[in-house]
Amino acid sequence: MPNHKPIFYKTQFLFFIISVLTNVAIVSSKSTIEPCSNSDSCNALLGYTVYTELKVSEVASLFQVDPIAILTANAIDISYPDVENHILPSQLFLKIPITCSCVDGIRKSVSTHYKTRPSDTLSSIADSIYSGLVSSDQIREANSISDPSVLDVGQTLVVPLPCTCFNGTDNSLPAIYLSYVVKPVDTLTGIAARYSTTITDLMNVNAMGSTAIKDGDILAVPLPACASNFPRYASDFGLIVPNGSYAITASHCVQCSCGPGNLNLYCMPASLAVSCSSMQCKNSNLMVGNITAQQSGGGCNVSSCNYGGFVNGTIMTTLSTSLQPRCPGVQRFPPLIAPPTSVSRESIFAPAPSPESVTGGATTPRSPLVPTTAGSLPGLPPASGPSSGIGSGGASDASPLVTPLATVTSASMLIFFVNVIMAIL
Ligand SMILES: *[C@@H]1O[C@H](CO)[C@@H](O)[C@H](O)[C@H]1NC(C)=O
Ligand SMILES: *[C@@H]1O[C@H](CO)[C@@H](O)[C@H](O)[C@H]1NC(C)=O
Ligand SMILES: *[C@@H]1O[C@H](CO)[C@@H](O)[C@H](O)[C@H]1NC(C)=O
Ligand SMILES: *[C@@H]1O[C@H](CO)[C@@H](O)[C@H](O)[C@H]1NC(C)=O
Ligand SMILES: *[C@@H]1O[C@H](CO)[C@@H](O)[C@H](O)[C@H]1NC(C)=O
Repeated sequence: MPNHKPIFYKTQFLFFIISVLTNVAIVSSKSTIEPCSNSDSCNALLGYTVYTELKVSEVASLFQVDPIAILTANAIDISYPDVENHILPSQLFLKIPITCSCVDGIRKSVSTHYKTRPSDTLSSIADSIYSGLVSSDQIREANSISDPSVLDVGQTLVVPLPCTCFNGTDNSLPAIYLSYVVKPVDTLTGIAARYSTTITDLMNVNAMGSTAIKDGDILAVPLPACASNFPRYASDFGLIVPNGSYAITASHCVQCSCGPGNLNLYCMPASLAVSCSSMQCKNSNLMVGNITAQQSGGGCNVSSCNYGGFVNGTIMTTLSTSLQPRCPGVQRFPPLIAPPTSVSRESIFAPAPSPESVTGGATTPRSPLVPTTAGSLPGLPPASGPSSGIGSGGASDASPLVTPLATVTSASMLIFFVNVIMAIL
C-alpha cells in the first residue's frame, strides 16, 4: 500500500518526460529512412537548390558526380559550347543523380566529401551549401567532430546524404526516388501535383500519419522511370532514368532517354561519343538505337538493336526481332531546355512543375540531344525477359514499400528513452 503513491508519481513523471520527448521529436525535421539488408547500391536523385551562382562543374564537384550526368538528368541541352562551365543561377532547383548505398542497415549516400573553406560552419555547409539535404548534427556525427566551433580550413568532411530506392519501384512500376527538402511554401498537395503523383502515394512511401509537412523535412518522392535490364555484371547495372530526362552511360558513349510517349528506356549513341567500342549489333547492319519496321501480311516485322549494358569497356548490344500488330511510330524524345540563366519567381515562391519552371537561356529551344534520325523508331523492350528492369537493391532486397520509416525510428527512440528513464528511476 505505501508504495502506491510513489509509483503513481513516477508514472506521471514518465508520461511528462515522454510527452516532452515526443514534442521534441515533432519539432525536429523528419526524413524518410529505408532499411536495407545487402550491400547492393542503387540509383537515386537529390533535390538540390543551388545556393549561389555556380558553374555546372562546381555543382558536380560538390557532389562528386559527372557534370554531364547532372545536365542530362535535368534535360538540359549538353550540345551548348562549354556547357560544363555554364554558370547556373542561384536558387535554381536541380535533380542530382547519386549512388545510394546501404550503410549500417540504412540507405544513404556516403560518397560525398566536402573540403572546408574559411568561414564555413557546420550549419552553413548543411543548410546553405547542401541546401538542407543534411543537418549539421549529421555531419558532426559522421565525422566524429567533438567541437563544431573549430573547423580546420581544408579539412575533408564526409557529407552523408539522404536517399531511398525501394527496389526501384512504386506500386510495382519502375520508379526512382527524389530526396526532396520541404520548403516553407510547400504543401503535400503541391508536391504531389508538381511530381505527378498522389497525396496517398506520398503518404504511403513516407509512412506519414497526416498530410502535415514542415520546412526542412525530407520526403522521398517517387518519379516514374524507365528501368534498364542490364546484366548484374554490367558497370551500369540498375540504370534507371526518370520520365522526361536522359542519362549518359558507357563512358559517355551511349545516352538513354525516358518518355514522353512510353516508359521504355531508349538508348542510342551519344552526341559526345568520341572513341567508343562498336555499337553495331552482331549479324546485322543495325547500330544501337536503330529500329527497322517492315509491313508484312501478318503485321509489322520490327527489328531493333538495343543497348545491353557496359561490360569491361565493351558496349553490349542485343538484336531483337518481333512481329507486331502495328508498326511503331517515330521515336519521340523528352524536350530539352537551354542551360538555365535565371530562375523564375514562381519556382522559388510557388513550386511549379520542374524543369519547365526554369526559364531557358535567351535562345529558342533546341532539338533533342541528338537529332532524331529519319527512320528511327521507338525503342522496344527486349523480346524476352522481364521488361521492367532489375532496378536497384536487387531482387534479394525483399523490403516492399518499406515500413514505418520515420515511425520506426521515433518509436524505437521512444522505447530507448523509456528504458533510459526506467533505469534512472
Ligand atoms: C511522362 O512525361 C510526359 C511528359 O511530361 C507525360 O505526358 C507522361 O504522362 C509521363 N508518363 C508517366 C507514366 O508519368
Ligand atoms: C542507325 O543509327 C545511327 C546512329 O544513331 C544513325 O546515324 C543511322 O542513320 C541509323 N540507321 C538507320 C538505318 O536508322
Ligand atoms: C523480319 O525481318 C528480319 C530482318 O529484317 C528477317 O530476318 C526476318 O525473316 C523477318 N521476319 C518475318 C516474319 O518477316
Ligand atoms: C572482365 O575482364 C576481366 C579481366 O579482364 C575478366 O576476369 C572478367 O571475367 C570479365 N568480365 C566479363 C563479364 O566479361
Ligand atoms: C523488385 O523489383 C523487381 C523488378 O524491378 C520485382 O521483380 C521484384 O518483385 C521486386 N521485389 C520486391 C520485394 O518488391
